[in-house]
This record gives sequence, structure tokens and C-alpha cells, in this order.
Amino acid sequence: MASNQNHQAMRRFLHVLRDRETGTEAFRWASDSLARLLCADVLSRLPHRDEQIETPVGPTTGPVLDSDVMAVPIYRAGQSLVHGFVEVMPGAVIGSVLIQRDESTAEPILIYKKLPPNLPRTAVILDPMLATAGSAVLTVDILIESGYSVDNIYFMGVVAAQEGFDRLAAKIGGDHITVADIDPTLNSKKYIVPGLGDYGDRYFGT
Ligand code: PRP
Ligand code: URA
Repeated sequence: MASNQNHQAMRRFLHVLRDRETGTEAFRWASDSLARLLCADVLSRLPHRDEQIETPVGPTTGPVLDSDVMAVPIYRAGQSLVHGFVEVMPGAVIGSVLIQRDESTAEPILIYKKLPPNLPRTAVILDPMLATAGSAVLTVDILIESGYSVDNIYFMGVVAAQEGFDRLAAKIGGDHITVADIDPTLNSKKYIVPGLGDYGDRYFGT
């Protein structure tokens, strides 16, 4: 769960996303706004080192990010978080995985992946919905096969179901997961309840 003072602002945008009356335009606005806040929370969790600089009037010390970063959106819905993410971390490389849940079993199916040849030290998986966590765990496994340690894998999402959060936390640690809220249950179709419905359909207007 997001841990900082931005949390109330996140919940305000999430409230717009949850409302079934919210149309595509307002949904995109709230999603892009929320993605920037979520990315700021991720940034606060990444390793930093102190750097001394000169202001125009004297020396001072402040934090700089001590790692290069790759964002890994899980397409399709994860693509919706890329815009806000790179506004906060413009230097991030973007890898991609395309995973779709089987509609009858909710099991994740990997369709395509592309990661850069020179992998940045830190990977941040982007996916707005963490339901069963099948898609996120499959992506973590792909990153581990590519050479990542779980210590350098983070997740950024909008809403998690408690069981999905717990499953992913067992894999990468709860303090590596940023979401705006955790909901209690999944329904029989493995949708998050109360959740907000199908994120990809609502963001892309399909
Ligand atoms: C949705 C969502 C996640 C996944 C979450 O994607 O964007 O990727 O389901 O569910 P899980 O935690 O149970 O794996 P979906 O496969 O519906 O495709 P979409 O991105 O095209 O909407
Ligand atoms: N994917 C969504 O878009 N919503 C859910 O509630 C679960 C998976």
C-alpha cells in the first residue's frame, strides 16, 4: 500500500476511477494523475545516495537515485500507467510483456515479451489491477529468468485484491509493492470487488 502523505490524493483519484458513471475522458485524466503519484511513491522506495552540489549561494547535500530503472508494463492495461510513470522518471527504459488472462480460468498466458539487452539494475512492473496476481508473478518469474534478483523488482498498480497482494508480497516483499488501495475479495470471474471493473476497457474506451 502507498505509504506516504500522497495517499489521500491517490484515494481521491481512485474514487473517480471506481465510479461506474465515470466516462473515458475523466477515467484517463484520473488514471494519468494517479500514475504520477504512484510513481512518486515507487521513487521514494528505490535506493538513493547523498550527493553534494552547489546552489547559486552555497553547498548542500541531497538524494539522487542510485540505480537505473526499467518500467515493465504488462500489456494491455499496464500501458495506461506508462505516461504518468515517465513524467516522474523520464530516464526509465521501457520493457514490455504482453500477458492476457484466459477468460474462463483467469490463468495468465504470455503472448510476447521484449526486454532491452542491457538490463537496468531496477525493474518496476506496471499493471493497474492485481487480482489473483497470476500476471504479476509470471512477470516476476520472467524477470528472474532474465537475471534479476527479487531485491531489485518492484510493482506499481492501482488496486489490489488482498489475496493478490499477499501472493505477490510473498514473492517480492510487501514494501516493494505500491498500490492506491487493497480491496477485500475477488468475484467468481476473478474480478476485484469492489474494484473498478475492467481497467483496460475503461481506459482505452473499448
Ligand atoms: C487484467 C489486468 C492484469 C490482470 C490482473 O488483464 O490488467 O494484467 O488482468 O489479473 P491477475 O492478477 O488475476 O493476473 P487482462 O488479462 O484482463 O487483459 P487487459 O490488460 O487487456 O485488460
Ligand atoms: N482485470 C481488471 O481489469 N479488473 C479486475 O478486477 C481484474 C482483472
